[in-house]
Amino acid sequence: MTKILAANWKLNKTPSDTKKFFTDLKAQNLSPEIQWIFFPPATSLETTAAQLQGTVVGWGAQNCYSKNQGAFTGEISAAVIAEMGGQFILIGHSERRQYFSETDQMISEKIKTIQSLSLTPILCIGESLEQRQSGKTLSHLTEQLQKGLSLASPAQKLVVAYEPIWAIGTGQVATRDQVLETHAQVRDVLNKMGFTQTAILYGGSVKADNALELSRVPFVDGFLVGGASLEVASLMGIAQGLL
Ligand code: PGA
Repeated sequence: MTKILAANWKLNKTPSDTKKFFTDLKAQNLSPEIQWIFFPPATSLETTAAQLQGTVVGWGAQNCYSKNQGAFTGEISAAVIAEMGGQFILIGHSERRQYFSETDQMISEKIKTIQSLSLTPILCIGESLEQRQSGKTLSHLTEQLQKGLSLASPAQKLVVAYEPIWAIGTGQVATRDQVLETHAQVRDVLNKMGFTQTAILYGGSVKADNALELSRVPFVDGFLVGGASLEVASLMGIAQGLL
C-alpha cells in the first residue's frame, strides 16, 4: 500500500503563505511512493487548488457540513470541495469534537455525504489522557469507529487517522507499543466492519526524528501531521522516515 503523508495546517497560513509554501514544495523531489495530501484552511483552498493543479499532490478541506446547500450560515460543503478539485476531507478531528461540539452522529452524516460525492473522508479518532489512564482506550476507539462509520460504505473510499488527544501538539508522541496496540485494534474493528482496504494513519507530534520508528510499526499506513507540516524542510524530513 502507498504510504500517506497528510498535512493538517489547522488555522495557519494565509493565501500568500500558502503560495510560498507550495512554490518551495514543488522545487523538492517529491517521492511518488508517498500519497501527499494537504489540508489548508478553507480560505487558502483556492490558492492550493491553483498551486497543485497538474501535480500528483492531493488536497482537501479540514471540515465540511453534512448538507451540500441551504440556509447554513458559515458552513462549507463537500460539493464545493469536489467542484474545486479537492479529493479529501478531514472529519471528526479532536479539535472539532472538543471546541465545536461535533458528535459521532454529525460525523457519520458528514462521512455519508462525502462518500456520496466519491471524495475520501479521513475520519479522526483518539482517546483523551483520562480515557487512557482509566483503561478505556480500546473501547473508546471501537465506539468512535462504530458510530462514526454507521452510515459509511466499505465500497467507497475511506481513511482513518488515529490521533491520541494527549499527543496532539504536545511533543509527547505515543510509544511504539501504544501505536501497535491501538492500530491493531483499529485494523481489527475495521476489518470486521468490512473496511478491509481502509488505510490507518497515526497522528500526534509526528516529527522528522520520530517518523522512521513510527512508520515501521505494523498497521501504520502513514501520518497525519500538524505542527511539523508547516515548514517544507520538516515535512520532507518526515517523508524520509516514511519511505
Ligand atoms: P501535531 O497535530 O502533529 O501538531 O501533534 C496533529 C493533528 O492534530 O492532526
